[in-house]
Amino acid sequence: MSNTLQQNLTIRRMHWADISAVDQLESELFPTDHWSVEQWWRELAAEHNHYWVAELSGKVIGYCGLSAQAPDADIQTIAIGVEHQGGGLGGRLLDYVLAAANELSIQFIFLEVRADNHSAISLYSSRHFSRISERAKYYPDGETAIILRRDSKRTDTEVQR
Ligand SMILES: CC(C)(COP(=O)(O)OP(=O)(O)OC[C@H]1O[C@@H](n2cnc3c(N)ncnc32)[C@H](O)[C@@H]1OP(=O)(O)O)[C@@H](O)C(=O)NCCC(=O)NCCS
Repeated sequence: MSNTLQQNLTIRRMHWADISAVDQLESELFPTDHWSVEQWWRELAAEHNHYWVAELSGKVIGYCGLSAQAPDADIQTIAIGVEHQGGGLGGRLLDYVLAAANELSIQFIFLEVRADNHSAISLYSSRHFSRISERAKYYPDGETAIILRRDSKRTDTEVQR
């Protein structure tokens, strides 16, 4: 099942016309602190930002964004719709972004993740992101943010939990 899903996944650049579908997914996945439509417009317009959507049968089921200024980049967001999670699609999307970062001559990729987001931490760990610091009470509900970094020249370390 998951192999079939992965084979059928299409990843392409996000366009303005995708904002409505992405906004709907975003509201479902981040009910308390999701981006507004206006913020999506700003994100897509920003010079150093790169956004992609993941599609199954023409339907947007995920998205990811990278803000890149070599040699550094930040993963702004990554998400897969609830009904498609756990099937390897998040991994496929992240691998695509890592390859894109490589083409942009990025060495260090940073991101923030909630300390209680075990599936995301597991995903990043499997792609050699390492914990470099944390910010207590970073999120509106008081949860800690863990800051991760991936060094493309040294991808043999695991996230320390
Ligand atoms: C994080 C997210 C993108 C992962 O997408 P996904 O399609 O579920 O990921 P995959 O199926 O590729 O699995 C990725 C890893 O998470 C693990 N995983 C999946 N669901 C899990 C769960 N409920 N608990 C723990 N680990 C889990 C998988 O085993 C896999 O680990 P592995 O590569 O070591 O086997 C997805 O869960 C999501 O969109 N979450 C909501 C938005 C979010 O939190 N984004 C991250 C913000 S930093």
